[in-house]
Amino acid sequence: MSREKVTAVFDVWAQDGKADELEEHHGNVVEQVIEAMQLQPGEKVLDLGCGNGWATRTIAKSNAGVQAIGIDASPQMIARADELHSYTIRARYDFCPFEELDFKDEEFDRLFSMEAIYYSSDLPQALSEAHRVLKPGARVDVLLDYYKENEPSERWSELLGIPMNFLDADGWRQAFEQAGFVNVTLERVVDTRGPGDESAFEPDEWYPDWATKVRSHEAGTLWIRAEKAS
Ligand SMILES: C[S@@+](CC[C@H](N)C(=O)[O-])C[C@H]1O[C@@H](n2cnc3c(N)ncnc32)[C@H](O)[C@@H]1O
Repeated sequence: MSREKVTAVFDVWAQDGKADELEEHHGNVVEQVIEAMQLQPGEKVLDLGCGNGWATRTIAKSNAGVQAIGIDASPQMIARADELHSYTIRARYDFCPFEELDFKDEEFDRLFSMEAIYYSSDLPQALSEAHRVLKPGARVDVLLDYYKENEPSERWSELLGIPMNFLDADGWRQAFEQAGFVNVTLERVVDTRGPGDESAFEPDEWYPDWATKVRSHEAGTLWIRAEKAS
């Protein structure tokens, strides 16, 4: 798969404002998961595919003493994250692809990722790199809306014009296990705000009708939890 093509798409999202809309779309689910992660002071968290860095900042803001580092392969996303940065929190954003993480072995206590890992041009390599940079016993929380059981997401790769890893929940479990992770569990997180307001719904290429929007909302976000063995 071509990483350059993926990066080009997200450079545009960073510049045309689409990246800044993602916090509104995903904020509720991410807040539920960040709260459940129960991060501890002193922990260093890696946010894989941080985009404009809103979740990286949420992690650092809502957990005193936690350091959050977001990485992304789109230079424009990292530039936008730097623009939005708050100097009162312990967060930073680095340009770096999943497949070649520019960090030492066993550097991070936790790993978080929202709607990003399925864009990898080499998923086994990306997961193996994630495993490498985590300390023994470190926990992983990865969130995805693009997975087979969320049937309306099936067309996303075609709509974006880029290749993407479309797996079912069991395929994701196997991919994490093959990378060396243990205790892999999967559940769904549903946005507590509901699917939105039907009277305000406007069909688009992603959700051509209200029923599709509701189906996708009900499928929820796939939450993959895993650990690096101690
Ligand atoms: C849909 S955006 C999500 C961004 C952010 N997590 C959020 O929720 O707003 C996916 C992000 O993954 C990044 N990405 C895709 N493939 C990547 C790769 N191979 N290495 C690093 N980042 C990548 C993109 O540049 C993009 O910023």
